[in-house]
Amino acid sequence: MENAKNIELINQIDKNNIPEHVAIIMDGNGRWAKKRFLPRSAGHHEGMKRVIEIVETAEKLDIKYLSLYAFSTENWKRPQEEIDNLMKLLIQYIKTELDRIHKNNVKIQTMGDISKLPRASREEVERAIKTTKDNDKMILNIGLNYGGRDEIIWGIKNILEDIKMGNIKEEEIDENLFSDYLYTKGLPDPDLLIRPSGELRLSNFMLYQIAYTEFWFSDILWPDFKEEDFYRAIIDYQKRNRRFGGI
Ligand code: FPP
Repeated sequence: MENAKNIELINQIDKNNIPEHVAIIMDGNGRWAKKRFLPRSAGHHEGMKRVIEIVETAEKLDIKYLSLYAFSTENWKRPQEEIDNLMKLLIQYIKTELDRIHKNNVKIQTMGDISKLPRASREEVERAIKTTKDNDKMILNIGLNYGGRDEIIWGIKNILEDIKMGNIKEEEIDENLFSDYLYTKGLPDPDLLIRPSGELRLSNFMLYQIAYTEFWFSDILWPDFKEEDFYRAIIDYQKRNRRFGGI
């Protein structure tokens, strides 16, 4: 059952102007835990529960693409214990949610070099990708060992390889062709980027893709980010005047 607040917010949303692609930098798990004198792992665990809810909300809103920043190329610098904890949560997330996600026709894909993930996590992620590969209601695109700069370099290397192999010519390279060499091949650029937790930065997230994305920042910590906050972000987005460099 929807609560009254959510219904009120849903009614303010223009169903004909839903952002096609929403990207989220999930941040603030550590600070949420610290405020409660809990270990950081408790913050990540609570953060995972928000992932479950927000994915469901995105499905409900008919968002076509949802990109989530779950683990960055820089996150390997964290203590091993925290890395292990995040990798275990990823497994737990897939184990609890895959059936529901698959039933709801959602396709899971990833961006980032998942070959570097610990084997158990990698295999679970591969199982999720394989199980959902033919689904087409929504794409849930999870950033795992993902970095925007790393992605651009990876794309350049692949494009050079294709030139060398004679698959493409240098003259053919343009913005659209280059997009096909990124992890997000086939996905439109995000319309809306949400970053909770009060930080006003991009942290190496989707650098190429967010050239004309609308940003929505908030002080809410990710474990406190509720369905209603998602609605608020969309309502604000719908008030923006997107000109894409035009007038
Ligand atoms: C940032 O909080 C969050 C992360 C580095 C990881 C995001 C992971 C989850 C939300 C849980 C599991 C995800 C999935 C997809 C199952 P932080 O630790 O940097 O917080 P802080 O800045 O307050 O320390």
